[in-house]
Amino acid sequence: MVMVEKGRKVCVTGAGGFIASWVVKLLLSKDYLVHGTVRHLEDEKYAHLHKMEKESKNLKLVKADLLDYDSLVSAIDGCSGVFHVASPVPSTTVPNPEAGNLFTSRLLRVELLEPAVKGTLNVLKACLEAKVERVVYISSSAAVALNPSWPKDRVMDETCWSDKEYCRTTKNWYCLSKTEAESEAWEFSRKTGLDVVAICPTVVLGLILQSNVNASTLILLKLLKEGYESVENKLRMIVDVRDVAEAILLAYEKPEAEGRYICTAHSIKTKDLVDKLRSIYPQYNYPMNFIEVENETRLSSEKLQRLGWRYRPLEETLIDSVESYRAAGLLD
Ligand SMILES: NC(=O)c1ccc[n+]([C@@H]2O[C@H](COP(=O)([O-])OP(=O)(O)OC[C@H]3O[C@@H](n4cnc5c(N)ncnc54)[C@H](OP(=O)(O)O)[C@@H]3O)[C@@H](O)[C@H]2O)c1
Repeated sequence: MVMVEKGRKVCVTGAGGFIASWVVKLLLSKDYLVHGTVRHLEDEKYAHLHKMEKESKNLKLVKADLLDYDSLVSAIDGCSGVFHVASPVPSTTVPNPEAGNLFTSRLLRVELLEPAVKGTLNVLKACLEAKVERVVYISSSAAVALNPSWPKDRVMDETCWSDKEYCRTTKNWYCLSKTEAESEAWEFSRKTGLDVVAICPTVVLGLILQSNVNASTLILLKLLKEGYESVENKLRMIVDVRDVAEAILLAYEKPEAEGRYICTAHSIKTKDLVDKLRSIYPQYNYPMNFIEVENETRLSSEKLQRLGWRYRPLEETLIDSVESYRAAGLLD
């Protein structure tokens, strides 16, 4: 029997997703033994993971759904660490999933809120049962930044929480799902003593490993392709997917890591972002006009940087993103 060094066998939920694929890749490069959960083992969209699985004997793909507790128990059994990345990330605005009377709303409650909130609790319960030593939970700036009471001139730090009622009134159902999931995770941790560390990334861009287009990749793709008549000149907070994976590993490996960590690198207005892209890639179909809007929310990653986290320049992220979209035929 192969003896696994303590703390080296870990589980990554939703292993086929944009961020999770990079987490799996980073863990394998550091000789971790990884259980990666996917919903349908045979699905074509996990081809990149099957390739990693073949190349490295240290990856085992396991079928699991966030709403199927027993499948999570099997996936997490024997692991010292769990990276809970899986959660639905819709790429369009969704109708009210809390309304309950419409078919679409019920569907969205089942497809968005339940996997995020109940799914997270299922993962944490399975972790407690398996005596997992630390869970790194991937939350989001969506659980931080939707807070109208936060002073406008103050940079947001980890003490800031999105206001659930405000998420409801502004119909930000994704933000609601992440805010509820993260607050439930902390409640669970307080009650049970399970060691949880949360990473809250802003918009994640960068080289895609997976074949399907995830929601944050679509934001950049649309700026390159859609030729919008006009877009809002919003301030965008961007971080590279490889730097997010590094932050997640740091949160696992550093014993002193605790609480939540905002993970963001660059703040840039949409027009400046488009100008930057246009200077490198003039051939794409960029937005034509920019509408000024009031949106000066700023978040700080100081706490994560104090833990030792560093990030790469924005140009590198943009070039690597575009080159990977080109290679995948997404810009044809
Ligand atoms: N990308 C960003 O800008 C960003 C920013 C902040 C936070 N985040 C957070 O980072 C995490 C990953 O996001 P991503 O951008 O990598 O998105 P993604 O590529 O869409 O990945 C989402 C993953 O969640 C899995 N999933 C969804 N519902 C599930 C369920 N019921 N059971 C099991 N797995 C389920 C999906 O599995 P399938 O492959 O089976 O569909 C997929 O692997 C999410 O928690 C998201 O909230 C993302």
